[in-house]
Amino acid sequence: MPSAPPDDYRPASDLLAERVILVTGAGDGLGKTAALTLAAHGATVVLLGHKVKLLERVYDAIEEAGGPQPAIYPFNLEGAAAQDYEELAARIGQTLGRLDGLLHNAAQLGTLTPMRLYDPATWGRVMQVNVNAPYLLTRACLDLLMQADDASIVFSADRVGRQGRAYWGAYGVSKFAVEGMMQILADEHEGTSPVRVNSLDPGAVRTSGYLAAYPGIDPSSLPLPETVMPWYLWLLGPDSVSVTGQALTVPAADLPVVT
Ligand SMILES: NC(=O)c1ccc[n+]([C@@H]2O[C@H](COP(=O)([O-])OP(=O)(O)OC[C@H]3O[C@@H](n4cnc5c(N)ncnc54)[C@H](OP(=O)(O)O)[C@@H]3O)[C@@H](O)[C@H]2O)c1
Repeated sequence: MPSAPPDDYRPASDLLAERVILVTGAGDGLGKTAALTLAAHGATVVLLGHKVKLLERVYDAIEEAGGPQPAIYPFNLEGAAAQDYEELAARIGQTLGRLDGLLHNAAQLGTLTPMRLYDPATWGRVMQVNVNAPYLLTRACLDLLMQADDASIVFSADRVGRQGRAYWGAYGVSKFAVEGMMQILADEHEGTSPVRVNSLDPGAVRTSGYLAAYPGIDPSSLPLPETVMPWYLWLLGPDSVSVTGQALTVPAADLPVVT
């Protein structure tokens, strides 16, 4: 089973034509770039996030670039209940008729602090957004995804959720949980449904989220989100159709210097 796109991967410009893909946290960072890139390759993108102004900017950029008309779905992953996710999935089914991909991108960092000092309320908020929300969203969307010819669920991973590191607290634990969720779902669907499930660690990428975690880094030393987009296209499109249950990592070109 391949664990990376080929070195010379050149996704077709209509790779995702006729596909509907939901991106969480689509207003900023990797989610914004993913939404623009998926639309540029033909996908109808459901832009989910909690800052409507940011989502509107992404919507406008997709329209201006001539991409398929996206959908905006303002949604606060922190406060939403199971029923809100079910309504979201029902709306997608009614208005767009299908769902072919789900990119669990939104996440909160919480604080970087020793476990014994970690604030329980912050812990709960991070777990809600980073673990419970992807679970509830996946649960609500699975019926639609299972109706697709081939469907892809991608969880955003992080190396601190694959090897424990001091002070990463709730964020690190939440990313470990996401890997477990990916493996369980992949095992449940392998060979019996068109849904494949993988996790992707994009490596160090220039976003406000990354810079909040590493304030000492010179932003110009970090690759732009665009550089990792071939991985997102490959995983969310049909070229990775045999790949499931994989914890994938974008290799670091040159690790940035921490000052
Ligand atoms: N950047 C990296 O180098 C890197 C490295 C490893 C893993 N990752 C993973 O890749 C993903 C994206 O990272 P990023 O750096 O692009 O993060 P980011 O810049 O912090 O963006 C996170 C996104 O999540 C959204 N979000 C947070 N809380 C939300 C809520 N309650 N409801 C709805 N949306 C919410 C944010 O929306 P608002 O802007 O509206 O708050 C934002 O769009 C994350 O899962 C992260 O763990 C990133």
